[in-house]
Amino acid sequence: MKVLVVGGGGREHALCWKLKRSDSVGEVICAPGNPGISREARCVNIAADDIVGLMALATTEKPDLVVVGPEVPLVAGLGNQLREAGFAVFGPDKAAANLEGSKSFSKRLMHEAGVPTARFEVHVDVEEAVETIRSWGAPIVIKASGLAAGKGVIVAQTEKEAIAAARDMLAGNAFGEAGSQVIIEECLVGEEASCLFIVSGDTILPLASSQDHKALLDGDKGPNTGGMGAYSPAPCVTDAVADEVLETIAKPIIAALKKKGAEFIGILYAGVMLTKDGVKTLEFNVRFGDPECQPLMSRLKSDLGEVLLAAAEKRLDGVELEWDAGTALCVVVSSEGYPADFKKGQPIGGLDAVEASGATVFHAGTAEKDGAIVNTGGRVLGVTAVAVSAKEAQRKVYTALESLDWPGGFYRRDIGYRAVAQEEQAD
Ligand code: AMP
Ligand code: GLY
Repeated sequence: MKVLVVGGGGREHALCWKLKRSDSVGEVICAPGNPGISREARCVNIAADDIVGLMALATTEKPDLVVVGPEVPLVAGLGNQLREAGFAVFGPDKAAANLEGSKSFSKRLMHEAGVPTARFEVHVDVEEAVETIRSWGAPIVIKASGLAAGKGVIVAQTEKEAIAAARDMLAGNAFGEAGSQVIIEECLVGEEASCLFIVSGDTILPLASSQDHKALLDGDKGPNTGGMGAYSPAPCVTDAVADEVLETIAKPIIAALKKKGAEFIGILYAGVMLTKDGVKTLEFNVRFGDPECQPLMSRLKSDLGEVLLAAAEKRLDGVELEWDAGTALCVVVSSEGYPADFKKGQPIGGLDAVEASGATVFHAGTAEKDGAIVNTGGRVLGVTAVAVSAKEAQRKVYTALESLDWPGGFYRRDIGYRAVAQEEQAD
């Protein structure tokens, strides 16, 4: 079959890479793609948020399946338009995508459905927000309600910091319209994990567990980013935890959406925290995690095209997934300066040598200029390897990264440290 993938980041590179290796898939087209993706797919330069352009492309190419990678087009209703035009689509409609598009909608639905999550209030008025912050005290979490590329969450250690964040969002226009409503949340403590499910109507199929590192610096310090690395499986997600997430989080939220008339087809991503009072939901996303998708696709042994088409056509019941028994680990190489400003257009060398040492390089923010690969985004590469253990996968990726020739690149040196420690404890 012919598959159209929408997006051009590391997640979409991993999806195209896996689709290309699926027996059921003959051709992969990607819009807009990137230089790494062009090794796996025919790239068409239409932006992932250009709904009109994407509809025209689908009409011309007539793909058998459309896989939508990022949240922005899903929240804008690309899924609805494609389905109305008769295409098989992997990715939810707008109403279901609101689970990610609006944190206030999502938190209220969790509350209605009895899904465990942090205590919260939604505010539009600065003074009322400040009053709540003063009465709850710090640490406290302030979130912009709308989409903010993973950067709209401030875990404030002091009331002063929390008040400044709420003011920035509500009065100072930080995050624009996305910050016109803020969520104030109780600060949870525990280990975080990413629990993803392929959902097709009433069928909910769990993917292997994964974990990402959202903080910029080693030791999970510094500002939040879109994710600086990830691995699968996550040792803290035992079978009992996975079952708890399925029963108390995934099933009730999908049922609650259905009650509102929103059927879900696509990925439900539950970001959870394992607290001493049980598993609690931090957030929902409606697409694969980035970078979690890179290790997940590296471990998946099943035919991805077949599975996603089955989901899109509501035939997912009975489908099972097969995974490599080892660990896959991805280290993100970002532009020095990210998540703030950075210099674009720097040439990146050594990519072939990195791959020659056994890692796969997934491209995220790259472009080709005068025959060279240059950086264009904050997160630029996802260097990924699979091995028998987390420790071995970590060693493999960091050894491969020694061949990277990019002085302006930055990466954490400790991706996977929790998994390695838990592995060592179990020995
Ligand atoms: P979110 O986009 O809602 O997942 O938030 C991004 C990150 O902020 C999460 O991965 C957590 O590290 C942190 N975070 C979010 N909500 C909370 C909370 N209620 N308590 C503690 N940390 C949180
Ligand atoms: N890695 C976190 C996310 O994709 O939202």
